[in-house]
Amino acid sequence: MVKLIGKIKINTAVFISGKGSNLKSLIKYSKEKKSEIKLVLVITNNKKAAGLKYSKQSNIKSLIVPYSNKKFAEKKILKILSQNKIKLVCLAGFMKILSNKFISNFKYPILNIHPSLLPKYKGLNTHERVIRNKEKYTGCTVHLVSKKLDSGRIIMFKKLKVYKNDTKLTLKNRILKHEHLLYPEAVSKFCSNL
Ligand code: GRF
Repeated sequence: MVKLIGKIKINTAVFISGKGSNLKSLIKYSKEKKSEIKLVLVITNNKKAAGLKYSKQSNIKSLIVPYSNKKFAEKKILKILSQNKIKLVCLAGFMKILSNKFISNFKYPILNIHPSLLPKYKGLNTHERVIRNKEKYTGCTVHLVSKKLDSGRIIMFKKLKVYKNDTKLTLKNRILKHEHLLYPEAVSKFCSNL
């Protein structure tokens, strides 16, 4: 891992595939004076990702990288990250799994937000599984991306109660609101310790 020095803002890229509500909250945070990051690039595999509207609104460079050939796509992304001097990647609803090769070739940290209390409920359909298993608590977690899915070091988490009448949709929406607070907070905590 490369040490990041001084008070220079960290060039950051956010990867999305869909709605981009976490991207929106990261953009808002990056515009704050106290922010440790400068959000300079948004990458998506999905040309229809609704979240692209947030990067456009804020004049942040956005790039669509089709994933029909993963090896080629990742090679292209690594090149773009290097050209833009990106020193932090935040995955925010990016629906592609980064290969081990990508993770070892990108020499800087990659963060992810996951809608469960990791290490429980890795992978997809978390809310559905939480409800089916009658969990009393769930939440969201920001963690470092490692070669094992949803298993890297946990930076921060938020624990939330599951109510008796919760559906996967009510749970998803409630957790998402907390994700929007947690992600910038975790980025800040993580970057101030670099
Ligand atoms: C969030 O629930 C996030 O935890 C998960 O994917 C969802 C993305 O939502 N990884 P959005 O695109 O940021 O609105």
